[in-house]
Amino acid sequence: MDPDFVDQLFKGLLHTEVTKKVHRDVYPAISPSRPELSQAGRVILVPGAGTGVGHSIARSFVRASADTIIILGRRADVLAEAVTKLEQEAKITGTNTKIIARTCDVVNMAEVDAFWKDLAKQGIIVDVFVNNVAKFTDPKPILELGADEVWSQMEVNAKSPLYFVEKFYAQPSEKQKFLVNVTSAVIHMTENPQVAERPSYILSKMAGTMLFQLIALHVPPEKMQIVTMHLGVVYGDGWKAMGFPPDRFDSDELCGSFAVWCASEEAEFLHGRFAWSSWDVEELATGKIRERIESDPEYLRASIIGANCSI
Ligand SMILES: NC(=O)c1ccc[n+]([C@@H]2O[C@H](COP(=O)([O-])OP(=O)(O)OC[C@H]3O[C@@H](n4cnc5c(N)ncnc54)[C@H](OP(=O)(O)O)[C@@H]3O)[C@@H](O)[C@H]2O)c1
Repeated sequence: MDPDFVDQLFKGLLHTEVTKKVHRDVYPAISPSRPELSQAGRVILVPGAGTGVGHSIARSFVRASADTIIILGRRADVLAEAVTKLEQEAKITGTNTKIIARTCDVVNMAEVDAFWKDLAKQGIIVDVFVNNVAKFTDPKPILELGADEVWSQMEVNAKSPLYFVEKFYAQPSEKQKFLVNVTSAVIHMTENPQVAERPSYILSKMAGTMLFQLIALHVPPEKMQIVTMHLGVVYGDGWKAMGFPPDRFDSDELCGSFAVWCASEEAEFLHGRFAWSSWDVEELATGKIRERIESDPEYLRASIIGANCSI
């Protein structure tokens, strides 16, 4: 892999000036062991938690004492291995978290329906849904990828999340629900040449982000709190397959712990908005950034820059 390309890409992917403090690893305010972030009494659903980011997120919910974590994926052997690891984590951390794995292709609506029907039959209500699964495509312009390939990505990154959130929200429970949407900073980095190589990924992740942003307009956080996160740059199968060296990446504990924080009452002020896991949550929650969140409905939301200004 060309070291200049790697340097340029990481420079772009890690650059942010929203908060003064920028984190690349877990820090006390988002530590899953903080009692304020406890997930005790909750059932957490993380599709795609057999590997990668989803697995790291599930592990952090174990550390936050979740009652039950349900993980989904298409490969039964990968899920079985993930269950063993998460159960070991529960043992080490001393939590009683129960891990359930189900094979389910998130774009197969019959399988998704059967999954939710089965939960209902067992009387299981999901309290936290982490929308994590994504489809990636080759680095090609949209018109070269072709409509079928582009649309298949929209099916995973936008249609399936819509189907899941419908089922999640419709569950018969008055208890507050929490939705954490995993997106990517690529949605606001189209000018970066390395990122721009994957326009179909940007399109579909933006569609998923807008989906949750718009749903949040009509659902109060007391019913279903919705926060969209960019998780940083986390080493996994996709990066490995592209030949990237593992040493440049953020700690996977950062994204997992941030996801737990997003599913806590402390993150309510970000309902319907977007944040990077590396941004310092104490700075976000206070001072100038908080003031702007309270006064500017466009801030940290997807929109068209420049359209409403006077020049
Ligand atoms: N890694 C990063 O640096 C990074 C950066 C920004 C954003 N993200 C976002 O983070 C999320 C996870 O990314 P990742 O890097 O962890 O991806 P990944 O390594 O490719 O993992 C994806 C997981 O989802 C499962 N999956 C894929 N398609 C599925 C389907 N149709 N039905 C059910 N499960 C499916 C896979 O298991 P099976 O193959 O067994 O189904 C796998 O466990 C995505 O939303 C991505 O956009 C990642």
